[in-house]
Amino acid sequence: MSFRILGTGSYLPKRSVYNDELSQFIDTSDEWIQQRVGISSRPICTTETTADMAYNAALGALEMSGVSPSELDMILCATVSADYAAPSLACSLQSMLGATCPAMDINAACSGFIYTLETAAAFFGRGLKRILVVGAERLSRVVDWSDRSTAVIFADGAGAMMLGDGDTYISSKLCAKGDAEVLCIPSFAGTSPYYEVESKKPYVHMNGQEVFKFAVNAMCTDLADVVAAAGLKIDDIAWIIPHQANARIIDAAVRKLDLKPERCLKNIETTGNTSAASVAILADELFRSGKLKDGDYIVMAAFGAGLTSAACVIRWGGW
Ligand code: COA
Repeated sequence: MSFRILGTGSYLPKRSVYNDELSQFIDTSDEWIQQRVGISSRPICTTETTADMAYNAALGALEMSGVSPSELDMILCATVSADYAAPSLACSLQSMLGATCPAMDINAACSGFIYTLETAAAFFGRGLKRILVVGAERLSRVVDWSDRSTAVIFADGAGAMMLGDGDTYISSKLCAKGDAEVLCIPSFAGTSPYYEVESKKPYVHMNGQEVFKFAVNAMCTDLADVVAAAGLKIDDIAWIIPHQANARIIDAAVRKLDLKPERCLKNIETTGNTSAASVAILADELFRSGKLKDGDYIVMAAFGAGLTSAACVIRWGGW
């Protein structure tokens, strides 16, 4: 089952936190972060909730597509940092938009937005006509700000796509390899007087080197697989939208697959890693840049906790 993209939107908090600001309270430096991760500043919420960011990104996608909230058949949100465990972020967004359609969240960590696109494709197969898909994260809430290996990486933001029925979602691949050791965010322990096991702190725990190895392999394999499944060659792909986790992961994939670096997009320098929002924010930047031509093939590829990974090929146009 397939769809076409009718519009995109994104939102980044106005407050950018620079590396030098972090080095005032964590043992790190601008030079280390730029060299090892490729980030110089990251957007961090000062007042916004995750739902506020999702709402602003959704407004952009609705406006670009000319679809009104009352016309939506479904809202799907990808997130690991919703404001509430329940209700879902999608239900909060539905209320803010004044929509009445079904709404639910999907958690596949940083691969979540592509998992959500695939879920939307299945709903189009059930006859739905307009689905709003949003990735939104307030990771500043789940990071331990005294842990230098994660505090310098993660950030806040949201991206959205308005999807209509169509035939431009060409191929896709979803993977999961259950592992809560390498990268996880434990839930809050609660106050049960009966539970006897000590809980991990409810912040991001990450084995950076293991994630790095998994990420490069997963991205290269998934990207090559979805391109082949689409009946295309790598050179046929006009734009690659990789998850923005570390500039060195993207550079390693470029080298391994012999990609044209200028076709493999990056905005991590000023956005940081926004998990499920990352590829959606970058897609919105591309779609609004005027660089896309009708018929251009785009690959999106992501990886994250789970461990999950996902990729897809989309053809631009089809209106
Ligand atoms: N500033 C300064 N030094 C830091 C640091 C920071 N922010 N973070 C870690 N270091 C230190 C380590 O403590 C270590 O010091 P030591 O040698 O004295 O023990 C040294 O830098 C090297 O650590 P290492 O973990 O080998 O660094 P690295 O080159 O692997 O970079 C990451 C660390 C986290 C940037 C990198 O592993 C990474 O990006 N991994 C993938 C993470 C990711 O993508 N996560 C999201 C997935 S969706």
